[in-house]
Amino acid sequence: MKVLLINGSARANGNTHIALEEVGKTLKENGVDYEIVGIGTKPVHGCIACGRCRELGHCVFDDDLCNRLAEKLAESDAIVVGTPTFYGQPNGALLALMQRLFYSQSHLAMHKPAAGIAVCRRGGATAALQSLTMMFQLQHMPMVTSQYWNIVYGRAEGEATLDSEGMQTMRALGRNIAFLLKSIHSQEPVPYPESEEWEPMHFIR
Ligand SMILES: Cc1cc2nc3c(=O)[nH]c(=O)nc-3n(C[C@H](O)[C@H](O)[C@H](O)COP(=O)(O)O)c2cc1C
Repeated sequence: MKVLLINGSARANGNTHIALEEVGKTLKENGVDYEIVGIGTKPVHGCIACGRCRELGHCVFDDDLCNRLAEKLAESDAIVVGTPTFYGQPNGALLALMQRLFYSQSHLAMHKPAAGIAVCRRGGATAALQSLTMMFQLQHMPMVTSQYWNIVYGRAEGEATLDSEGMQTMRALGRNIAFLLKSIHSQEPVPYPESEEWEPMHFIR
């Protein structure tokens, strides 16, 4: 079993990557493989609603990551999409890719467990998270939750590691994805995941 984790940030080793790596590490500890794919810094097309994907079976624009992501999704059993929060929304390049991926090859996503993660400095992450999950909700995708909304705080690269509750939320998410995947693919009942002792954190010091 394998999970595709998409890093929607242009910062390959930024806070979104750190959040995803925490999920991935936990998946691995629970016997599930993972791959993080960053969307990078190259330009991406937006969907132009040409409908050519209906004939081609893939997006007409083949010079960016969209069709490569489709190949990765085809060989994955679940998907996690992480985004930095930009003006209370997922960043534009990620949205452009995801909209084209889901519109052109939605069958690859169907019925696969999914989760979104939003990373922010201070606010707007719940709206960004909601925006991401809208794509999963009309694709028959079981959505995986955690002990809190899938939000991690940080501004400068690396600060996410200091959000101890956010990191704990990522680990709980990883355990829940592994639990759900095993439950789907196993003939036997799978025990509920263990929880860590709650580590609450706020930002008034
Ligand atoms: C264009 C832009 C818009 C941003 N908008 C928000 C915002 O609305 N709310 C917020 O809390 N942080 C905002 N941020 C901060 C980022 O979400 C934050 O630095 C995050 O950790 C970046 O993740 P990354 O390191 O994975 O790129 C914004 C940053 C940029 C560059």
